[in-house]
Formats: sequence, structure tokens, C-alpha cells
Amino acid sequence: MSRALILSTLCLAVLPACSAEESDTSLTQVADVPATPVLAAPVAMENEQIHRLMQLKEGMYSGALPVGDAAFAELAALGIKTIVCVDGARPDLEAAARHGLSYIHVPIGYDGIDRDTSNAFARVAQEVEGPLYFHCHHGKHRGPAAAAIALRAATGCTTQEALAVLEVAGTSRDYPGLWRDVAGWTPPTADEVLPELHEVAQVADFTASMATLDRDWDELKALRASSWQTPEAHPDLDLRRSVKAFAEHYADSANVIPAEHATDVVLLDQMQAGLQMAEKLQLLVEEASNPPTAAQIPALEEAFLELKASCKDCHKDYRNE
Ligand code: HEC
Repeated sequence: MSRALILSTLCLAVLPACSAEESDTSLTQVADVPATPVLAAPVAMENEQIHRLMQLKEGMYSGALPVGDAAFAELAALGIKTIVCVDGARPDLEAAARHGLSYIHVPIGYDGIDRDTSNAFARVAQEVEGPLYFHCHHGKHRGPAAAAIALRAATGCTTQEALAVLEVAGTSRDYPGLWRDVAGWTPPTADEVLPELHEVAQVADFTASMATLDRDWDELKALRASSWQTPEAHPDLDLRRSVKAFAEHYADSANVIPAEHATDVVLLDQMQAGLQMAEKLQLLVEEASNPPTAAQIPALEEAFLELKASCKDCHKDYRNE
């Protein structure tokens, strides 16, 4: 399944070129890809605020979702001017603005980067004020793939050099479309009109809902990792609250199945089964002591692993390729 970039009806004018008139006239030229030099290898950097930070070249970075003011401050300190979000969730424009940073939102799926979307990244590379920071949610798969395409557009680097970005990021081979589309990238041609860029793109309800579910899921993973108790590093997390939000957001997802899957009984069954597991986990947590005792933990573990397998199974069939 390929997800075309859905362009928002609102042009939010983050860029001078972000207007219908200009996009008709000035954006049809062939991308001016400089013939280039061998690039230095991408470098994975340790950073307390920004997980999976990687520098692709001077002025181009990728990594995980920046969360909270300290993370945006860190990006500003790195000199970043524009953040490019490829996740389905709405970017935190307000936090970015507090640190003088702009956002561009070009959501992509795990199944690959279609032509229009890769042209959006070429446009970002050519027109948007850098240094640039590309992020998805965890900074491992989609963000690096988008950044690798922008790197190709900005530098004319070799396929090998672009794929090195995915290697260094640890992008999974379970997403062959991302590898394929980074490897197969070609610059926009003279007759292609590059897509408009937006601060916030329109995202299908189901996709947005999955992105929300993933945040709850991360919270559950963090709680589980500290024996189902509030982790010291995250005193803000509370198991009962997280599990309740997770079950609610699971139900939200099940309510907005996209039209293309609406009659697919396999997917619908998987979704209902997943929802039941989410409700079961919620019930177990609510019936358990707070925090759960050692004797209560195995049942939580079992429910968690069941859920984990169900996310994975459905994605294998319906999302990743
Ligand atoms: C029954 C099928 C199904 C189940 C179960 C399911 N998903 Fe998904 N998920 C999908 C599909 C289909 C997509 C692709 C949607 C799209 O790109 O429009 C998706 C997309 C996603 C995305 C990408 C959102 C984005 O930014 O584009 C995340 C993250 C995600 N799912 C997390 C989860 C987690 C976590 C679970 C389990 C707790 C889960 N999903 C369970 C079908 C499922």
C-alpha cells in the first residue's frame, strides 16, 4: 500500500515559495544537483536530549522526535533552523517556535517513499533554510530514509553514500520499500512540479490514530522495563493512566479504519482482537495492586507480549510493504 502525500488545503506560508502562484511557475525546473565529491560517512552522535542523532553532512541531521523544550533547545544549539517531520503525528509547532525553529511536515509510511514525496524532500533540500533536522518517531527508519533522499538531492552523492545513512541509522530490512526508494532515487525532472511544503500536512485519521497509539505504547514499554512501575527517569508516567489512554486510543483507531481496508475481514478481525487485548491489559492493571506485585506481573507480561505480536503481525501484512 502506498500512501501519497496528502497536501493540506491550507498553505501555511512557512516558505516564501509556499504559494500556489509561485509553485506553478518557478518550480518546474530540473533539480540542480551538484556533481559531487565523496562525502564523509554519516556519523551517529551521542546526545542526551535527541535520541539517535546522526549527522549526514554539515547542516543536515536526522534523529528521533524532539520532546519538550530541552530537546528543541538542543536542536537550536546545534544550529538547526528547520525541522522536517515525516511522522504521522502533528509536529509540536509551538515548542519549535519558542526556540526560533520552523517546521515542515511531510508524513511518510513504512512502505516506501513515492515520487511526489521524494520530490518534496528534494524541494526541502533545495529551498528550505538549513541546517535541517529530519525526524520520524524513533529516528531509525523513516527519518533517516527521508534525510538520505534529501542528501542525494542536496549533494548528488552516490547510491552507496545514501544507503550508508540507513546502515548507520540501523534502518530495518523489514522495510524494503525505504531501502528501495533511497537506492532508486532520481532527481525531479524538468516537467515535474514539486509539491508544496506545509508546516502541518493533512494526515488520514487512521494514520494519526496509529501515531498516537505508538506514543502510549512507548509509555507502556518504559513502564514494563521498570517492572511495571513508574520509572525513575520518568516520574511523570503512571501505569494506570497510560494503559487507560492506550486502550482508549486503540478503540479510536478501530473506529477510523480507512476505506481501503473497510471490508477486509482479516484486518478488521486483527483490529478487534488487538482491541480486546488492550482492554484485557487495562483490566489486569486495574485489578492489580499499584504497583503490581511479583505474582501479578506474569499476567501483565503475557498480555503485553500478545499485544506486541499483534501490532507486528498486522503491520507485516498491511503496513510495511
Ligand atoms: C489490524 C492492523 C493493525 C494493528 C493491530 C496495529 N496497526 Fe499500526 N498500522 C496499521 C496500518 C495499516 C498502518 C499504516 C497506516 C497508514 O500509513 O496510513 C499502521 C501504522 C502505524 C504506525 C505509523 C504511523 C505513522 O506515523 O505513519 C505506527 C507507529 C503504528 N501503526 C503503531 C502501532 C502499534 C504500536 C500497534 C499495537 C499496539 C499497532 N500499530 C497495531 C495497522 C495496524
